[in-house]
Amino acid sequence: MLFPDYRPRRLRRTRAFRRMIRETVLTVDDLILPLFAVSGKSIKNPIPSMPGHYQLSIDNLVKTAKEAFELGIPAVMLFGLPDRKDSLGTSAYAKDGIVQKAVKAVKNKLPDLMVITDVCLCQYTDHGHCGVIEHQMVDNDATLDLLARTALSHAHAGADMVAPSDMMDGRVAEIRNTLDENNLYNVPIMSYAAKYCSAYYGPFRQAADSAPQFGDRRTYQMDPANAVEAIREVTMDIEEGADIIMVKPALPYLDIICRIRQEIDLPVAAYNVSGEYAMIKAGEKMGWIDGRKVMLETLTSIKRAGADMILTYFAVETARILRERA
Ligand code: PBG
Ligand code: ZN
Repeated sequence: MLFPDYRPRRLRRTRAFRRMIRETVLTVDDLILPLFAVSGKSIKNPIPSMPGHYQLSIDNLVKTAKEAFELGIPAVMLFGLPDRKDSLGTSAYAKDGIVQKAVKAVKNKLPDLMVITDVCLCQYTDHGHCGVIEHQMVDNDATLDLLARTALSHAHAGADMVAPSDMMDGRVAEIRNTLDENNLYNVPIMSYAAKYCSAYYGPFRQAADSAPQFGDRRTYQMDPANAVEAIREVTMDIEEGADIIMVKPALPYLDIICRIRQEIDLPVAAYNVSGEYAMIKAGEKMGWIDGRKVMLETLTSIKRAGADMILTYFAVETARILRERA
């Protein structure tokens, strides 16, 4: 196919041609909206580095969830900010914990909206790590049971799917066994399988008050330089019973999404994280980029790389635009 016999521009000439040959189409079905729950009433604390996002008390969280549902967004992902933190993160698996209560409230009002819960300890531990500390280290095996209890209590509260984000080895198997033993074999696990130790989580830690109080997460989250290891992590989680596997963050790891899509036959999720959101919002505010276009291009690139679904703080904005266009 050589010029002048072949002219790629022929099929770019009109909008109709471009629509017809478009390979990747973003739809509202692809979107999952993350939300932050706090206790109290009528609370809507703006998150400075994530304009348009708030820490929401359950009444307001249900309102936002309803708005998302009415726009056709199929699922929300819940994060909790507990009233009390301690060394074992006990509020994470308390029956009346913030996420447990939020799940109940959302499912009660919006039974057809899928509720996914983030399963981790970092928002609930006073040291801010994703597991329990023994000898100044995050102890893997001592953490597993607490994660499984957290997932179980979310499922008991009515969560449609649980999503462990801690990166402890063996947690998917532990959670799967615990759910199965409790007859919750229908609750799938979306595993944050290839989760990198990323500076792009900065705004989230402000939103969720979950920054580690000492050290960092390098002993459990993946080194950003590694790709082959991601395949190993993902394979392991699948063998342990994961139903959906996630790559996180998304944009700096499109190569990982692409490789995993090619090598793995399960649905792949990508998390377009807080820092990715904040950069676009900041660039837009400065007047340096067209935020709306950059948002749509970014989400399309994540889907083109191979993601079947995208967790994104842009979910509502994107759903609105897709609706306008429909
Ligand atoms: C907790 C968790 C984090 C995110 C999701 N779950 C932060 C972290 O690992 O420190 C990040 C999400 C985002 O940045 O949007 N384990
Ligand atoms: Zn964590």
